[in-house]
Amino acid sequence: MNADNTVTTERLLLRQWREDDLAPFAKLNADPRVMEYFPKLQTRDESDGSVKLFSDHIQRCGWGFWAASLLQTGEFIGFIGLQPVSFQATFTPAVEIGWRLAFEHWGKGYATEGAKAALQYGFQKLHLKDIVSFTATSNMRSRAVMERIGMHHEPNNDFDHPRLPVGHPLSRHVLYRITADVWKNLSVKS
Ligand SMILES: CC(C)(COP(=O)(O)OP(=O)(O)OC[C@H]1O[C@@H](n2cnc3c(N)ncnc32)[C@H](O)[C@@H]1OP(=O)(O)O)[C@@H](O)C(=O)NCCC(=O)NCCS
Repeated sequence: MNADNTVTTERLLLRQWREDDLAPFAKLNADPRVMEYFPKLQTRDESDGSVKLFSDHIQRCGWGFWAASLLQTGEFIGFIGLQPVSFQATFTPAVEIGWRLAFEHWGKGYATEGAKAALQYGFQKLHLKDIVSFTATSNMRSRAVMERIGMHHEPNNDFDHPRLPVGHPLSRHVLYRITADVWKNLSVKS
């Protein structure tokens, strides 16, 4: 982590949101490939509203769902980061790790690379005891990121997302977790 509250990895900068991120973020939130496991595409207003929530949290706390851009070109590619879970479930209160990238930036390892840095921030800087992640059961690409960064599925904490109507095809969610102890052992090995 850097003195200005940004996080850098080999290829990525995780940082506070900027005005010029709004248009590319709205574009990816309106892309059916990116939003396959969400109940609906987002309008420009909804997308801008999410950015306001994310950036307010970063402003208040110094961390959150950071805007992710490529170090080499500066191109905005999506978000990666940490935020407190905003609903009640068997596993809350908790801090979640999450990611959403523009389709053209899938398949390059960016989500995994940024997520590893976010875990490091959560455990070393925030001293969290554990970090969770969740997604619709069928979202295998997101589950693969969770598994690559050392998270474990906890079937006992799988849940129906409270913001989706009962019986919605995407309502069932899987819950993954990584504890600080497991993470320390992983980082010693890598
Ligand atoms: C979830 C999401 C971020 C995963 O993206 P992804 O590209 O599959 O994941 P990564 O960025 O970690 O890339 C991993 C892939 O890049 C490949 N790769 C290429 N170069 C690589 C490198 N230098 N390092 C690591 N992996 C690399 C890996 O082999 C892997 O390929 P595979 O999926 O064919 O096995 C993306 O699908 C997404 O934004 N989805 C929509 C939003 C969403 O569902 N978010 C979660 C909801 S809770």
